[in-house]
Amino acid sequence: MNMVIILAVFLCTFFSFSLQEGPLNVHLVCHTHDDVGWLKTIDDYYYGRKMEIHRAGAVESILDTVVSELAQDQKRKFSYAEIAFFAKWWDAQNDTVKQMVHELVQSGQLEFINGGWCSNDEATVHYNAIIDQMSIGLRFISSNFGVQPLVGWQIDPFGHSSFQATAYSLMGFSSGFISRIDFVEKYVRYYTSELEMMWQNSHSLGHSMDLFTSILYPHYIPPPDFCFDELCTDSPIKDIEGAHNNKVNEFISYSLNKGRHFKTNNILLTMGNDFNYGDAGKWYRNLDKLIKYANENGSVNVMYSTPSLYMKYVNQDNKVKWEVKKGDFFPYATAPHHYWSGYLSSRPGLKGYARKCNAHLQACKQLEAIHNGMGDNGPSSVKLQHAVGEVQHHDAITGTEKQHVANDYAKRLHIGEVECRSVMATVLNDLAAKGANAPKMNLSFCEYLNISVCPVTEGGDFNMVVYNSLARPYTGMVRIPVIKEDVSVTDPNNNKIPVQVMPISPMTKRTPAFVRYNAQAQFHAAIEVTVPPLGYAMYTASTTGSKQHSKFVTKSDPLHVKTKSEDVVIRNKFYQVKFDGKSGHIKTITNIESSISSDVNQQLYWYCGSTGDKEDNQNSGAYVFRPNSSIVFPFGKDNNNNANISVIKGDLLSEVRQVYNPWVSQVVRLYKNKPSIELEYTIGPIDIKDNLGKEVISRFSTNFKTKSTFYTDSNGRETIKRMRDYLPLYPFYKRTEPVAGNYYPITSRAFIRDEDSNLQLTVLTDRAQGGSSLTDGTLELMIHRRLLHDDSRGVFEPLNETGESGDGLVIRGKHLLILDTIDESAYTQRMMAEELMMTPELAFAPTDGLQLGDYNLKYSGLSTALPDNVHLLTLEYLDKSTILLRLDHQFESDDPKEWSAPASVKLSDLFVAFKIKEVTELGLGGNVALSDIKRLQWKTVEGQTVPSPMNLPPVTAPDFTVSLSPMMIRTFNVTVDFSGDANLQYNSYDKML
Ligand SMILES: *[C@@H]1O[C@H](CO)[C@@H](O)[C@H](O)[C@H]1NC(C)=O
Ligand SMILES: *[C@@H]1O[C@H](CO)[C@@H](O)[C@H](O)[C@H]1NC(C)=O
Repeated sequence: MNMVIILAVFLCTFFSFSLQEGPLNVHLVCHTHDDVGWLKTIDDYYYGRKMEIHRAGAVESILDTVVSELAQDQKRKFSYAEIAFFAKWWDAQNDTVKQMVHELVQSGQLEFINGGWCSNDEATVHYNAIIDQMSIGLRFISSNFGVQPLVGWQIDPFGHSSFQATAYSLMGFSSGFISRIDFVEKYVRYYTSELEMMWQNSHSLGHSMDLFTSILYPHYIPPPDFCFDELCTDSPIKDIEGAHNNKVNEFISYSLNKGRHFKTNNILLTMGNDFNYGDAGKWYRNLDKLIKYANENGSVNVMYSTPSLYMKYVNQDNKVKWEVKKGDFFPYATAPHHYWSGYLSSRPGLKGYARKCNAHLQACKQLEAIHNGMGDNGPSSVKLQHAVGEVQHHDAITGTEKQHVANDYAKRLHIGEVECRSVMATVLNDLAAKGANAPKMNLSFCEYLNISVCPVTEGGDFNMVVYNSLARPYTGMVRIPVIKEDVSVTDPNNNKIPVQVMPISPMTKRTPAFVRYNAQAQFHAAIEVTVPPLGYAMYTASTTGSKQHSKFVTKSDPLHVKTKSEDVVIRNKFYQVKFDGKSGHIKTITNIESSISSDVNQQLYWYCGSTGDKEDNQNSGAYVFRPNSSIVFPFGKDNNNNANISVIKGDLLSEVRQVYNPWVSQVVRLYKNKPSIELEYTIGPIDIKDNLGKEVISRFSTNFKTKSTFYTDSNGRETIKRMRDYLPLYPFYKRTEPVAGNYYPITSRAFIRDEDSNLQLTVLTDRAQGGSSLTDGTLELMIHRRLLHDDSRGVFEPLNETGESGDGLVIRGKHLLILDTIDESAYTQRMMAEELMMTPELAFAPTDGLQLGDYNLKYSGLSTALPDNVHLLTLEYLDKSTILLRLDHQFESDDPKEWSAPASVKLSDLFVAFKIKEVTELGLGGNVALSDIKRLQWKTVEGQTVPSPMNLPPVTAPDFTVSLSPMMIRTFNVTVDFSGDANLQYNSYDKML
């Protein structure tokens, strides 16, 4: 810390900017930071309940009193961000209030900033979810007020991602505000007047995405002594004229001092804090006086302002050439031993559920759109849209909320999911029924399939409808829990297909949920399904055990429990994986097609969570990761970290089951047609009998020469190169936490490369995790954590997740591993990540009395598959004749040419359910026509004036061809025509396969 202060003084002396002519413009931004859940649930914050847990202004009163105070004086302004709260309040207002609010918004007194449903986290959130949650808020604002926010306002998330900045640019925002960045970088920027800059956030999309970014200093709080909230005790401004008013003079010198650290003649002061303005009158009475008396002095021009107004002033100073920022703002640290890299992995169950619900939501929205909506009284995707939006909040998916609040997010997701299942069942039934007389299938979605619980398939014969939400055919393995070994399955073409029946692992049978649901299954029946794009395929399973089916059963080798120490090998056509017979760990991997063989060792270990030491009393907790040493600890009876292994080999899949101890196990699988190795771990309840908090990791070790470098993704999108122990602005700074200080967010994938040998090892994740490469050739990801002490960041609870059984939480998750050349990896990682994120939806119905002849056994919503480099991001029903469509290019500019080439998609005749009449391009938020977007221009030291306009080729009739450059996302309002037999237009998809 000392070093930082010395540095600060040094920099201060040499780099202070001198003030420009004229009084300093002091922009008072009245705001409240309303967490969409944290210590209390969303509803408890809204209604102001449970003050004993968190004394916070009731959001209801905040909005009531702000609106009435604004109406009393036209000079007053207020800025509001969290639309999940605002929308709830808005629905409760009468027409008089609504009219008043309309006027306040039109006059600019009330400004919406950010405008998302919440202020999403930036480390653990997938780009699909960022766009969706921003979109529901922005569309609420545009449909009710006809305005669009112009600035990002991410003042509390714990570090900042480059994709978030790209998203803002694509939404048409001119600038963004952030606050939490590494403490050293913040000091350096403050003392060098570099808190404001152009952020070059996408190397693929280039300067048109650059975002002018302002970092709040010191944070989003008012100056010391100037909080006039009901929650504060600072003294009020007295009615004494400026020259004799000490408090006013104190304010002026604070402002002038702060002004010296900014390049233009403007500073922004955030007048507000968490849940402030429950009594807005108190704030405005004091600020009215402060403005009046401070301006008498003549050296400052204090005014009510808003973030966008501030930016307009800053932009008008055309003398400044702005510095350029590249990369992102991770990891986030507040002190030498306070690295906020624990939250990257905290609450892996909620993180996994949030990701899964995002996939359910996309499928649900697609089916709703294909169906032309569900009618006025039908079920809809709205609840799930809101719940998925809420859980992206920076105290939700991050795992930094209290346990009862985490439960509330899960409950909201579940309620939304239940309604979406009803949407999906209705649409699938309607698509499947050949005539009006076909009985509806009683479709149910087995939500506990991951732990092999599914009452329908455990019951007897069943139909399985597999829905594929990807815009290209899906082929993959599904594993279904069944009671008996004799299972036969028929595909949509009425052909019997191979089934591989395997005993359910003992590790699954002992999970508390398996026991609680009284699951009957003894076996998994694995089959390979092939499903058309944006469509379904129906499979029929008979479990009655009639002998003639058994020839289709591919018997696996009998469960083979290892006793001797010979090596074990499993293989498919892509990979051969060798396990060391003694330790049970992966030892070498061969990529057969690419003729690559490499030593790869994979093991699970744990870090011991710190409970403070003589350097610092910081504990490892929900926010902060702080291991008590850089050493990882082994599992196992003898602490040798060996795993007992058993092997199952079959034609469809082969697996090695590794058991480290009763609460740590893993299954390594190769599926017949998948070019990746699946590692499915089951961890928990983490044993805390020794009173030690434990943070479990999966580590891959190779001989790769990685030169301190590894790669992680930005919100599942562009790749960011990471250098171990490197801080951009300040290269001589030594990381004081060698492990936690090198942990970065991994939203969907991370990899290491040996460039000289042209090798890449990639790990794809099914949920966000923290990870790093702490020594050359290794890559590790943190998969579960359980800690016994609070980490003093406000949540006041240890991260000690407890399942329904009263015991600690069990986590089952997946990594997909790819070992290949650098070029081939670029392709496979994208395609596999897309599949992992959008795994097919499975619906089951008992076959009782159903005649297969009454049903269409497959359907595709597309007349042709999209090219591999295009991802169908959004297909959403807006109203009877309007669909929201987003397409994105899923490769980067520096990927191999074959994949990074511009893509193009002809929209006319693409969708089977409707005809396209008109296409209007929108900003990414879906709230404003692209042609109406005008972003401010800024000059940089590099000489450009940015952003340059987004020159996108128009999408016009009759073909409506959309072209996409690498990493581009385009959003369209599509006017469609469902007339004719649209819903019943079944294309013969066979031609395409
Ligand atoms: C509308 O609501 C406001 C605030 O709750 C209340 O003061 C006002 O009387 C209501 N007006 C009408 C016409 O109901
Ligand atoms: C952690 O949770 C367990 C229940 O799973 C409980 O018995 C234990 O007291 C908790 N420990 C702390 C420090 O909260």
